[in-house]
Amino acid sequence: MTLSKTLSIAPLLLWTKAASEGLNRLARRNILADSVLFLKTWRQNPGKVGAILPSWPALSSAITREIGTEHAPILELGCGTGVFTRRIVKKGVATHDLVLVETDPRFASHLQAKFPSARILCSDACQLYLQESSLESTIGAAVCGLPLLNMSTRQQWRILHGVFCALRSTGALYLFSYGMRCPIPGRLLDRLGLRAQKMETVLLNAPPARVWKITRRHGKWLGNMK
Ligand SMILES: C[S@@+](CC[C@H](N)C(=O)[O-])C[C@H]1O[C@@H](n2cnc3c(N)ncnc32)[C@H](O)[C@@H]1O
Repeated sequence: MTLSKTLSIAPLLLWTKAASEGLNRLARRNILADSVLFLKTWRQNPGKVGAILPSWPALSSAITREIGTEHAPILELGCGTGVFTRRIVKKGVATHDLVLVETDPRFASHLQAKFPSARILCSDACQLYLQESSLESTIGAAVCGLPLLNMSTRQQWRILHGVFCALRSTGALYLFSYGMRCPIPGRLLDRLGLRAQKMETVLLNAPPARVWKITRRHGKWLGNMK
């Protein structure tokens, strides 16, 4: 490149560098603010929040790995500060194609501010099957960040009922747990005609986590709440 050409683009290069430093600083501040909100909420309700800090980027990317625009609309349960949500949006899914269920009102208003066109339901994911019949067979994929190990089998059953009524017949539910086993017991999966596939172990998360994919065994849902 000639000297005159280099001099002519120098201001542009300087501006790009300053802008990217500014964006990095802003992102660091957002991550810090999200972590503080998470920690405060966890201190008030550790069992419900189920983790001290938001999931790390490696887990966000593993749990959303198979999700794309063809799965829209997408359902997410237990969104917290929205780390999985952000990853889904980065994959090109429009925010108006997101249905976000989060029980904590502070997290819910945080999500509302970050994803204003998403449909945010500040409610208990166990009630989804009762409240959202309009979602029936519309959802292409669901992501779950709920602390399932802290829930009873009855609660898990209700959650699966809500999710699999909302999912299209080919849709899958992606979830994670900090243990070695799938957090949904095998007998419950059998009873509902579902199967769990181990997808990935994510070491770069605190604590390390495992991602599971839950699908219908024969394209059929055997659940019945009665
Ligand atoms: C382990 S945190 C995961 C947050 C986020 N997905 C992440 O990975 O950082 C669990 C989240 O589920 C929410 N939650 C817990 N029980 C819930 C329920 N019954 N219905 C909806 N959300 C719930 C908590 O408020 C919290 O935001």
